[in-house]
Amino acid sequence: MSQQRPYVVGNWKMHGTRAMLAEARAIDRAGQRHPKVEVAIAPPFTLIHAARKEAEQIGIGAQDCHPVDGGAHTGDISAAMLADAGASFVIVGHSERRSNHGESNELVRAKAESARKAGLGVILCVGESEAERDAGRAEEVVCGQLEASAPQGAGMVEKLSVAYEPVWAIGTGRVPSNADIEAMHRAIRARLQAIYGAEGDDIRILYGGSVKAENAADILGVPEVGGALVGGASLTAESFYGIIRAASGENVD
Ligand code: 13P
Repeated sequence: MSQQRPYVVGNWKMHGTRAMLAEARAIDRAGQRHPKVEVAIAPPFTLIHAARKEAEQIGIGAQDCHPVDGGAHTGDISAAMLADAGASFVIVGHSERRSNHGESNELVRAKAESARKAGLGVILCVGESEAERDAGRAEEVVCGQLEASAPQGAGMVEKLSVAYEPVWAIGTGRVPSNADIEAMHRAIRARLQAIYGAEGDDIRILYGGSVKAENAADILGVPEVGGALVGGASLTAESFYGIIRAASGENVD
């Protein structure tokens, strides 16, 4: 909430070869210039270890993990492996995982719980489709996802953030109105308090979906918005820097 630093996280998705480590270094320098903002990036798995070595200060995380620690799961990566590679957090339940890989709320919850047990921070993503919003069901859908995918048990709330990412706003240049963002973040807050009691008060709720330097200050100023999860505009330090500056309260021209 307001006493916490805004959390600005770049989700690089399936972008990035070693050539992009220069961007990670430049984002790290930007983060160092703005200590009032908590800056992080989630590059592809293949860059986590190298990015951790290149960046001194920003958080480095992953975009997904498998729910068990190890075993016969060809192609998968466990939370413990991510921690070993230098990750400090993981994104779970992104809508692209939910749709491209058929991930259920139950699976997302198991991933979140395994990540917390491995000591990783968790960014749990929720968000409605355009059809669900048009049908007036956005809050019901998002709160239902949250209820069913929120990690349960001791130590789960610490280092947990929630990202509200309306599916129709991702990569489209369309964003909800401030009033709609506020209403949804308030609904998420109420649901987090119902799930976790008073501990739900301090969980940061990030907004994601077409955040750019030009709209970041506006969105980050909405009550209950504790940061941003940024896709396309996090791929270069130049575009991401504008968002970091906006989060620090500097004007972006
Ligand atoms: P864009 O910022 O590219 O819309 O992506 C948002 C997102 O999906 C971040 O996880």
